Amino acid sequence: MRALPEPNNVPLTGGPTLRWGVLAPGRIAREWVRTVHANTDQRVVAAASRTLERAQQFADEFGIDTAYGSYEQLVADPRVEAVYIAAPHSEHRALALLAIAAGKHVLIEKPIAVTVAEAADIIEAARAAGVFAMEAMWSRFLPQHTIVAQLLEAGDLGEVLTVTGDFGAKFEFDPASRAFDPALGGGALLDIGVYPAWFAHFVLGAPHAVTATGSLASTGVDAQAALILDYASGAQAAITTSMLVPTPLAATVSGTLARIEFPGPFMGPGSFSVTAGDERLEWREPTGLRWGEGLCYQATAVAQHVADGLTESPWHSLDDTLEIMAVLESARTQLGAL
Ligand SMILES: NC(=O)c1ccc[n+]([C@@H]2O[C@H](COP(=O)([O-])OP(=O)(O)OC[C@H]3O[C@@H](n4cnc5c(N)ncnc54)[C@H](OP(=O)(O)O)[C@@H]3O)[C@@H](O)[C@H]2O)c1
Repeated sequence: MRALPEPNNVPLTGGPTLRWGVLAPGRIAREWVRTVHANTDQRVVAAASRTLERAQQFADEFGIDTAYGSYEQLVADPRVEAVYIAAPHSEHRALALLAIAAGKHVLIEKPIAVTVAEAADIIEAARAAGVFAMEAMWSRFLPQHTIVAQLLEAGDLGEVLTVTGDFGAKFEFDPASRAFDPALGGGALLDIGVYPAWFAHFVLGAPHAVTATGSLASTGVDAQAALILDYASGAQAAITTSMLVPTPLAATVSGTLARIEFPGPFMGPGSFSVTAGDERLEWREPTGLRWGEGLCYQATAVAQHVADGLTESPWHSLDDTLEIMAVLESARTQLGAL
C-alpha cells in the first residue's frame, strides 16, 4: 500500500477572507464564531438576533462591531458579504431566502432545511441570484476527509461495497426543544442522522433505494432510525442514528482492496486507519482541534470558493445536499415522522 496522501484542505490562514454576518446567535453560532475568530483570518462584522439585547451580548462576547435586533437589518448591511445562518432548521428556508434576496452569500447550518421542497427553494433562489450557497456540512472540509476523498478518487480502496456510519447521542426529553418539537424540525435524522447520511453520499453518491426502520418520540419526531441504502453498483450503506443513546460515532468504508476505519468521531476532527491485507496505516489527527473547533475549516473554504468565482462548493455541492435531503426525507416518511 502506498503512503497516505497529504490533506489538501484550504489553509485556515493566509487566504482570501470574507466579512461575515451571523443570523441567530444560539448554541452553534457561539461555537462557530469562537473557532472562526481563534483559528482563521475570517471576521464576523455583524450579528443579528430577534432581540437587540441578545445580539449585543453576543457581539460584545466576540468583539463583533455591530449588533442588530432583526435579521432584516443585518442582511441590509452593505459591509456583510456572507451570512452564516444558525437558526433551527425550521427557519433555514426563510432566512436563506432573506439573505439571498439581499445579494449575500450564504452558509446554512445542517440540515439545509426540513424538506426536499424547502431545500429546492433555497437552491433555486441562490442559483437565480448567482450568490454562493452551501449547507454547512463542515465535516467534508476537515483534513481527514480530504485524504479520504483522495483515496476514493485514486481507487486505492478498490471497488467500495460496504459503508457504515452512526451518530447517536442522548438528548434529554423536552417536548418544546429543537430536538423534539416537530414545528422546529425535530428528530434524530435531520439533526444528527444527516452526518452518516452525508458520509454514505460522500463515498457512494445517491442510492437508488432507501429502507428505514425506527421509532418515534411521543411528540411524533423520529427518535431512532436504522437505514439501509442500496446502490446501482451493488454497494450498500448501513447507517444509524439515535437521540436515545450515545453511539461510537464510527464510520467504515470497505473496498475490494482496502478499508478505512474511523473509530469515532468521523464527523469531527478525528483519526482513522487504512487496512489492506496485513498492512495497516494510521492517520493521526494533527491539528489538536477538538470537536466543534473543526467548524472553522468550512469558513475558509467558502472564502476561497467565493474568491475563485464559484457559487457552489465542488466538495459539497447543492445537488449533493439535495440528494442527502432526499434520503432523510424518504426515511422520515417510512418512519411516519413527517
Ligand atoms: N454543525 C454542528 O455541529 C451543529 C451543532 C448543533 C446545531 N447545529 C445546527 O445549527 C442550527 C441551530 O442549532 P442550535 O442548537 O444552535 O439552536 P438553538 O441554540 O436552539 O437556536 C439558535 C437560535 O435561533 C434563533 N431562532 C430563530 N428562530 C427561532 C425559533 N423559531 N425558535 C427558536 N430559536 C429561534 C434564536 O436566536 P435569536 O432569537 O436570538 O435570534 C436561537 O438562539 C440547527 O439547524 C442545527 O442543526 C449544527
